[in-house]
Amino acid sequence: MSNTDASDDRLDSLLDRLTIDEKLRLIRGGVDPEERATGYVPGIDRLDVPALSLVDGPMGVRAGTATGFPASIALAASWDPDLAREAGRALGIEAREKGQDVVLAPGMNLLRVPQCGRAFEYYSEDPHLTSRLAVGTIEGIQSAGAIATAKHFVANSQEERRFHVDHRIDERPLRELYLRAFEASVREADAGMVMAAYNGVNGDPMTENERLLTGVLREEWGFEGVVVSDWWAATDGPRAIEAGLDLEMPGMPVSEWHLSESNPITRLIDAIPYWGWLPRQTLARLLMTPWLPDHANPNLFDASHFDRPVREALDAGRLDERVVDRSVRRLLVTMDRFGVLDDDRPEPAAGDHATLARRIARRGTVLLDNDGVLPLDDPDSIAMIGPNVDRAKVGGGGSSAVDAASTTDPLGGVRDRAGAETRVTVEQGHESFETATMGASPFDGLDFGGEGAGGRIDDAVAAASEADVAVVVVQDNATEGEDRPLWLPGEQDQLVSRVATAAEQCVVVVRSAGPIAMPWADSVDAILACWYPGQADGRALADVLFGDCDPGGRLPATFGRRPADYPATDPAAYPGIDDVVSHEEGLAIGYRHFQSADVEPLYPFGHGHSYADFAYGDVSVDEETVEVTVENTADRSGREVVQVYLDPRDRSVERPPRELAGFEAIELGAGESRTVAIDLPDRAGAVYDPDAGAWAWPDDRFEVVVGRSVTDERGRAEVRLRR
Ligand code: GLC
Repeated sequence: MSNTDASDDRLDSLLDRLTIDEKLRLIRGGVDPEERATGYVPGIDRLDVPALSLVDGPMGVRAGTATGFPASIALAASWDPDLAREAGRALGIEAREKGQDVVLAPGMNLLRVPQCGRAFEYYSEDPHLTSRLAVGTIEGIQSAGAIATAKHFVANSQEERRFHVDHRIDERPLRELYLRAFEASVREADAGMVMAAYNGVNGDPMTENERLLTGVLREEWGFEGVVVSDWWAATDGPRAIEAGLDLEMPGMPVSEWHLSESNPITRLIDAIPYWGWLPRQTLARLLMTPWLPDHANPNLFDASHFDRPVREALDAGRLDERVVDRSVRRLLVTMDRFGVLDDDRPEPAAGDHATLARRIARRGTVLLDNDGVLPLDDPDSIAMIGPNVDRAKVGGGGSSAVDAASTTDPLGGVRDRAGAETRVTVEQGHESFETATMGASPFDGLDFGGEGAGGRIDDAVAAASEADVAVVVVQDNATEGEDRPLWLPGEQDQLVSRVATAAEQCVVVVRSAGPIAMPWADSVDAILACWYPGQADGRALADVLFGDCDPGGRLPATFGRRPADYPATDPAAYPGIDDVVSHEEGLAIGYRHFQSADVEPLYPFGHGHSYADFAYGDVSVDEETVEVTVENTADRSGREVVQVYLDPRDRSVERPPRELAGFEAIELGAGESRTVAIDLPDRAGAVYDPDAGAWAWPDDRFEVVVGRSVTDERGRAEVRLRR
């Protein structure tokens, strides 16, 4: 008998011995006695089934203090799946160290609209780049013995009314854009879990979307793991479990879920006088539901939908117990696959990941513009300016928040690096603000243009005028639960513009969740996009400012000149009308839109300067491997991301003018040359044919375009692609 057969028999036997109450216990969340896990499935002691602990999140383990990694979009800006694998492994190690089995990461929803409040938690506007990073991260997490979770399945690309909206997406954009990374996560990275999103797609809530949860995920892609709901996303237990949802989280009303004492909901519930005859949960639901803000989860006070409703459906014969068995088995199979069932996993390797966090932050830093002021050449004086220049931007608000063990802010990082002979002054120039938290507006506590802004800006201008270089650190303040404006909060734009006028040289450091407007872009000397750099913020910034490393990043999302330049500007497309989000733009998101609509971006997808210079040789294509020789013609090492795009020569069907098909991030020493070979993916040049329900190659003639960005072409060659 093979191991698999033995394992199957064992699990079947275990399933047979479980009572229905024990089965229902295994398909929904419960209270973690240690109050560390984000989600918890209590074990079944009678049969030695251990508990299963689930923990956020993509930028660090949300249980006690942990490494505060840079935002996912910063990792994406490195264009390096191997680095993503390292980051994933570190997440998995730290989760295991904290007794957690499942990491609720990576988030891989596409940046369909730049306003997405969780842009910092996702990777890119492009499905190929997103897929490569998602696969790397999942493989990394699971290499550490933890279970990765591909989230949020699918099309959770806006926070505005995320619990209510239904995304109407045609089959081709659904397949060619939104499902791509999830398909790679299952078919290539073999993710152990997939998280069903809050939103609906084409008329069905994702937690009840049988076509996508079972038809596509299971029957087409062969997913054998567990589909877990987002927190309080399920609302109809019997329908959801039939559709393919296996595990309901958190499985209890928010009033029973362990909340930090500081959480406003906890304080409100604790303030409710206890009336013995009415359960506090009922009272909380009655009193608080009417006051829940529009962006709050409407199901917060629901009891589990996988407990009594499922039990009643079974008793009434409306639900077959074999459907429950199916979900229980998937959980046991996944726990067995990852060694949780017998707790026979190797001890997690201890890890200090501070160096890795710093490396990712450096690699994700994008040099958008530079007139030569960078790298700094030991200036006599530097004025550090910005509302939060003395605070590291570890992350944004919401479930991805991490309590970083230690942080370095921009001021501290520059002071440490500049050395004693450089005078470093500091002026905030603007009201500082707290990191937004989910549920509170990102702009709570901000005094826009109050008496503080004007006066403070004058002080910053004075400091800038007295220094060789002014470094202005600006930031936005995004959080899960709300979408983000595309401009810097408060008076930061005015701050930058006025400092730029007064300063001899002005460097702007932007810490944003994603694309942001830069009305001052033409009046400053250099711009760095650092996203949310994590705990190593100041150290990585100093590394780049002083040239100790090359800024390795390239834009994973297009920066438009104006909000109107982006796709989906019609209200029906975003944020939707009557909770229907019509994906009118179809395939034309991100650079696909800018190119097909012939709109010039402020900074294009894939853009980023290096301190070095690169010369490209001729492009050749052998079979489906693209080769090009790249030389670093500078006298210092540098990082380059060689990008490969496909332009269709014929368009027998509607298709974007150009699509990313491959890339490689490389580092070259001064004068070093390397021939880079990039394999085109198996489905290069394919489109999804909804009528055939399959991928097809209606056109076979393409141009392979090699470049430094989607618009900075360095060579091309013809290729024929047909299957
Ligand atoms: C949140 C998020 C999800 C997170 C989960 C648990 O609302 O949507 O990404 O993993 O709930 O915190």
